[in-house]
Amino acid sequence: MQRESVFALRGVTLRHGPVVVLDEVYARIPPAACTAVVGRSGAGKSRLLRLLVRLDDPGTGEITFCGSPLAAYDVLDLRRRVQLVAQQPVILTDSVAEEISFGCPDLTRARLSGLLERVGLAPSFRDRATPGLSGGEAQRVCLARALALEPEVLLLDEPTASLDAASADAIEHTVRDLVESGGTVVLVSHNTAQVERVADQVIVLEHGRVLATGRPGDVEYPQAAS
Ligand SMILES: Nc1ncnc2c1ncn2[C@@H]1O[C@H](COP(=O)(O)OP(=O)(O)O)[C@@H](O)[C@H]1O
Ligand SMILES: [Mg+2]
Repeated sequence: MQRESVFALRGVTLRHGPVVVLDEVYARIPPAACTAVVGRSGAGKSRLLRLLVRLDDPGTGEITFCGSPLAAYDVLDLRRRVQLVAQQPVILTDSVAEEISFGCPDLTRARLSGLLERVGLAPSFRDRATPGLSGGEAQRVCLARALALEPEVLLLDEPTASLDAASADAIEHTVRDLVESGGTVVLVSHNTAQVERVADQVIVLEHGRVLATGRPGDVEYPQAAS
């Protein structure tokens, strides 16, 4: 039996003035699975993720979440259930501990340490100030902040692009753990080996169009970061 899609996009088009950023996109994001979105720089991957949390709305077409139109949800409720960890992290507070507990003020020390570990950051990061974090550290703090909310869906935009292998490994494990416990992950990645390790489905975007959808290994996609 095919389970309902978490997200379904039907004929979604997004324009910026004369630029067609997404062009008649049809896609399904299955539950309890990791879907990788791949494609060259500028293909529309980040814009696609933004649509799913209504940071943009499509010009034409329809997006549903758990079977209902995205616009039917309270946007803040939607953004709690669906967490986007952007390519350019947005830090909201001055300290790592405050940042990770931003949406969960009752977060215990033990949970905070567990969250740091899940994103490959040492326990000492708990006492760090956020100014001065590297881009990769800030992105992982944002991921820990997202995980603290126990979202149903996690949208990760190139989460390991600026990380060393050990940190990337921690994040890949976290993604698989989430999926195995019933969570849904959408992962933008340029790393072919990573996609094959963690993804159940791949969507290939090119110039805003879906070029192919399939299992990793069955579809061809650009290998190089660009
Ligand atoms: N604010 C904007 N105004 C005009 N064009 C934009 C804007 N944001 C993104 N684009 C264009 O949309 C396309 C897709 O961008 P993006 O989704 O960021 O690509 P990717 O994440 O796949 O590298 C690119 O051609 C980009 O130049
Ligand atoms: Mg991008």
